[in-house]
Amino acid sequence: MIEFNNITKTFTTKKSSVCALENVSLKIEKGDIFGVIGFSGAGKSTLIRMVNALEKPDSGTVVVNGKNVSELQSHDLRNFRKNIGMIFQHFNLLESKTVFQNIAVPLQLNHRPKTEINARANELLKFVELEDKAFVLPKQLSGGQKQRVGIARALALNPQILLCDEATSALDPRTTDSILQLLKKINRELDITILMITHQMNVIQQVCNKVAVLEKGQLVESGSVIDVFGNPQKETTKGFIRTVINDQLPERVKSYLRSYDAPQKVVRLRFDGKNADEPIMSLAIKETGVNISILYGTVTELEESVVGFQTVQITGTAEQLNTAERFFEKHNVPKFEVEI
Ligand SMILES: Nc1ncnc2c1ncn2[C@@H]1O[C@H](COP(=O)(O)OP(=O)(O)OP(=O)(O)O)[C@@H](O)[C@H]1O
Ligand SMILES: [Mg+2]
Repeated sequence: MIEFNNITKTFTTKKSSVCALENVSLKIEKGDIFGVIGFSGAGKSTLIRMVNALEKPDSGTVVVNGKNVSELQSHDLRNFRKNIGMIFQHFNLLESKTVFQNIAVPLQLNHRPKTEINARANELLKFVELEDKAFVLPKQLSGGQKQRVGIARALALNPQILLCDEATSALDPRTTDSILQLLKKINRELDITILMITHQMNVIQQVCNKVAVLEKGQLVESGSVIDVFGNPQKETTKGFIRTVINDQLPERVKSYLRSYDAPQKVVRLRFDGKNADEPIMSLAIKETGVNISILYGTVTELEESVVGFQTVQITGTAEQLNTAERFFEKHNVPKFEVEI
C-alpha cells in the first residue's frame, strides 16, 4: 500500500547539510499498523511527510496505492491527499473554531453540501466520543480530547491511510492508552492502514503489528513486532525494547553463568498462541533429561496475542542439550541465544 524505495534526503542550509534519510526502503501493507521508532532527529517526520508529498525525496520513490507520489501534479495531488489523513503531536487545531467547525474544515474545503457536513461531523463526534463537546473551543479541551478532534478531522474524508506523527507524545500515559485504543478501533472497524512514528516503544508494543527502527537517517531493523521484540538484532533496537521489557540479566547472574563449568545453554524461549497450551517446560525436562532454571520471565500482549518470553539456563550432558534443542524445534518454541 505504501512503499518507500531507496529514499535519500539531505537538507542543505547555508551553514551545513544534514542527511535526514539515507537509502531507506520499507513496505507498509494494507491493514497494517506500522510503527517507525527512532530518537529525535532520526528522520521520522521527514519520512512520514513524504507519504502525502509534504516532503520530496532527493532520490528514490514513494509509491502509494501504485502511484508514484513525486509525479502527482496539482489536481491529482489534491485528490490523492484526500485519501490520507494526518494527526500531529500538537494537534494543529484552529483555536478560534469550535470542535464541530474544526472537524468540518476538510469537508468545507471540499465543497460538500451543508447537510452532508452536518451528518458527517456528528457521526465523527460520536465515533471519537466527543458529542458533548461539539460547540466548545479547543482551549477548553484536555490534550486527549484535542487529539480526538484531530483524529475526527483526519477521518472526515474517509481516508484509507492515517499518518500519525508522534500523536501521543504530548499526552500522559493513561490518555495515551485511550488514544491508542481509538487508533486500533480505526484500523479494525474502518479498515484504515496506519503509519505512525514515535520515540516510545510502549506505543509500538500496544498497537503495532510491524515496526521499523530508524537511526540517524538509516533503517537499522524492521519486521513483525513479535519477531523484533523476541530477537532484536541491533543495539538501538535492544535499547528501545528494554524500555518496555527489561530482560537484562543482573551482572551477578551473568557472572555465575560464565563460571558454570559443565555443558549449558542460556537461551530466550518464546511462547505464543501456537505453543502456549502445552506444559512445554515440564515435558522438556521429562523427555530429554535436562534441567531448566528460569532466569527471567515475562508475559505481554503483542499483535493482539499473548506472548511470553522466558530466559532459561538449560543444563545436562551435551547429548541431552542436543535432544532438548530438537524438542523445542518440534514443539515450535522459537529459541534465541542470550549473550552472557
Ligand atoms: N526543513 C528542514 N531544513 C533543514 N533541516 C531539516 C529540515 N527538516 C528536518 N531537518 C533535519 O533533518 C533531520 C531529521 O529530522 P526529522 O524532523 O525528520 O527527525 P525526527 O526523527 O522526526 O525527530 P523528532 O523526534 O525530534 O521529531 C534532523 O537533523 C533535522 O534537523
Ligand atoms: Mg519528528
